[in-house]
Amino acid sequence: MTSEFKKLTAIRGMNDALPDDSAAWETLEGVLRDWLAQYGYLNMRVPVLEHTRLFTRGIGEVTDIVEKEMYSFTDSLNGESLTLRPEFTAGMVRATIEHNLLYDRPRRVYTMGPVFRHERPQRGRYRQFHQLDVEALGLSGPDVDAELILMTARLWQRLGLDGMALEINSLGQSDERQAHRAALIAHLEKYRDILDEDGLRRLYSNPLRVLDTKNPALQDMADAAPRLFDFLGAESRTHFEGVCARLTDAGVAYRVNPRMVRGLDYYNLTVFEWVTDKLGAQATVCGGGRYDDLIALLGGKPAPAVGFAIGMERLLDLWSQSRTPAPVVECQVYMIHQGDLAQRRAARLAEGLRDHGLNVIVHAGAPGFKSQFRRADASGASFAVILGEDEMAAGEASVKGLRAQQSVANDTQMRVPFEKLAKFIMDKV
Ligand code: HAM
Repeated sequence: MTSEFKKLTAIRGMNDALPDDSAAWETLEGVLRDWLAQYGYLNMRVPVLEHTRLFTRGIGEVTDIVEKEMYSFTDSLNGESLTLRPEFTAGMVRATIEHNLLYDRPRRVYTMGPVFRHERPQRGRYRQFHQLDVEALGLSGPDVDAELILMTARLWQRLGLDGMALEINSLGQSDERQAHRAALIAHLEKYRDILDEDGLRRLYSNPLRVLDTKNPALQDMADAAPRLFDFLGAESRTHFEGVCARLTDAGVAYRVNPRMVRGLDYYNLTVFEWVTDKLGAQATVCGGGRYDDLIALLGGKPAPAVGFAIGMERLLDLWSQSRTPAPVVECQVYMIHQGDLAQRRAARLAEGLRDHGLNVIVHAGAPGFKSQFRRADASGASFAVILGEDEMAAGEASVKGLRAQQSVANDTQMRVPFEKLAKFIMDKV
């Protein structure tokens, strides 16, 4: 039979994390959880799949994400359109409304996990990637915006990242954006003849995105465009100044970027991004802002909110540039044995060691001593515990230090009675 079976690989833009890589993920996740706890953020989890209309309504019909990047499909059982989440905020808000989470107090919550966007893959840009998503729900002041930003600054410091630059902007309120939009469309209409296909398409649907052009011929048009900032009313300006003042108080440098357009439509007032020059083209590690209208837009009782998300792959890439990871070890103790009885005794002794919290592998597979020692070495264990015929006869185990730094010197062996084994090793780790 000729095989038609095509070699299976992961889907383009979706990555595996093998044990060495995954160790870095787990370490980072631990740092993140500790850091979030310091600011009172609690974990929650939302589904990977949601109704497509949550995202079309929440993120906005004319965003790149909704127009062309969502993995959507029809549920063959009931004809509903479902979508793999392209971000967390919409789902977090849906869950908040559905479970009436804000009924008695504001909430600080976070979640981590995979999200999906059908983008063109390159370094730092994947189709399945991971976000840490942090949301402060039910709080309206600039103090909260500033706290979120300062919190991220502390994280970069804790991870030893340098060269992180903060950009902030205010998108005002929707009536201010409407007034700006009308002025912007009037401005852009004067350039109709030179607008490219995308520009023309977006002229009336999303004129701000027309400015987000890389086309040098359109640069003058973009530079001369009316600025949203000039359309902000007193309240919006005061809010923005409140955020800026708190950043200055804390000594966090920032650049006001009046051109910052986030790729999601739910934002108002403060928006911000942390960028770096160490990741090539995909420079944004963290992005977020205020979204005071989203909860009501998705059917909840109006409540303000602000949050951000960090791209985990980008953060890991950056972090790996600034540290030497500890070698990955499989266990602390590797048990070597010869013969059926010794194997059974080793399994029991291993359980006893685990009772003391030790990480133990009992050798399985090829029986020869030589290959067992090779495996013990490769495991990264600090100790090999050996049960051969002699040891079994004496009711003792041989303990061999495998790492030079252990106080049982490398290549020396000690005999220890079975019942004293756990204590002997515990004294040495
Ligand atoms: P976002 O800017 O679309 O915001 O994504 C947040 C971060 O996810 C980006 O800054 C970037 O680090 C990472 N990211 C985005 N696309 C990719 C990709 N294709 N591959 C790898 N990493 C990527 C949001 O998603 C908002 N929900 C953030 C937010 C939370 N706003 C308020 N609350």
